[in-house]
Amino acid sequence: MPRLRAIVLGAAAGGGYPQWNCRCAICVLAWNRDPRVTPRTQSSLAVEGADGRWALLNASPDLRSQIIATPDLHPRQGPRQSPISDVVLTNADIDHVMGLVHLRERQPLKVHAAAPILAAIAANPVFRVLSGESVSFVVIEPDTPFHIAGDVEVRAFAVPGKSPLYLEGEQGSDWRDDGSAIALELSRGGQTMIYAPGVADLPDQMVVRFNRADTLLLDGTVYHDDDLTRAGVGSKSGRRMGHVPIAGAGGSLERLRHGRGRRIYVHLNNTNPVLVAGSLERRDVEARGWEVAHDQMEIVL
Ligand code: MLT
Ligand code: MN
Ligand code: ZN
Repeated sequence: MPRLRAIVLGAAAGGGYPQWNCRCAICVLAWNRDPRVTPRTQSSLAVEGADGRWALLNASPDLRSQIIATPDLHPRQGPRQSPISDVVLTNADIDHVMGLVHLRERQPLKVHAAAPILAAIAANPVFRVLSGESVSFVVIEPDTPFHIAGDVEVRAFAVPGKSPLYLEGEQGSDWRDDGSAIALELSRGGQTMIYAPGVADLPDQMVVRFNRADTLLLDGTVYHDDDLTRAGVGSKSGRRMGHVPIAGAGGSLERLRHGRGRRIYVHLNNTNPVLVAGSLERRDVEARGWEVAHDQMEIVL
């Protein structure tokens, strides 16, 4: 039976790790090439399907270098070819959609996203570089299964999230669950994996669903809700940015403590102390059975 196989292309949140203009304590470790830390590119996952086809879950601004770093995603036949057949977007944040511009050059491709995400893309003329003949945009309906990369089944469901930063002026900054942010439940060979890199809150019905997955890749943007304040780089809380914290009351460690599958934090902000091997926070999440994703981490179910 075919198995679900995925490669983390980028494990960091928007800005990457280290972030270009940041000298927070954790970025300084990366600038100094401290062996306790490893740089990470921006948020994306690749999933393998039938006949060597692959789908991207989110397309980050680092996509070109991520493809180069991942032999499975290299073109295999002349003169023009790519194993990448589909892209699925979980929200319209810059770190998840800007990579679409790397996928121009008339390559046949399907881009799947919920209606509010497709509307944000359609409103931005830069994405017109994706040629209409080769690239089709497909609306994802909640909880209606569809297939990517041939035989990987996907069910999307709305999660609490907020509009992208660049649309806050028009749409406000409150959380919503109108489909502006979705999580993806993938299945192949009887195994399921949930990918949820942006989740503002963990209501009960989501906890049940997340805990059932064989593998969960979850929003690990911030450890404490006030990581940015602690790091001296800003005042926005994790929740205000649309990201439930790892620690504290209502955080993912507490809410998902009864999870039975493999659990991995992705979308790590550069201020998150779990990026540092051996830190208190890293040891805390590991002691509770969580892993911290890194670029090129391979997940086979
Ligand atoms: C987020 O996940 O909060 C966004 O990617 C932030 C950003 O736009 O950089
Ligand atoms: Mn993001
Ligand atoms: Zn930093």
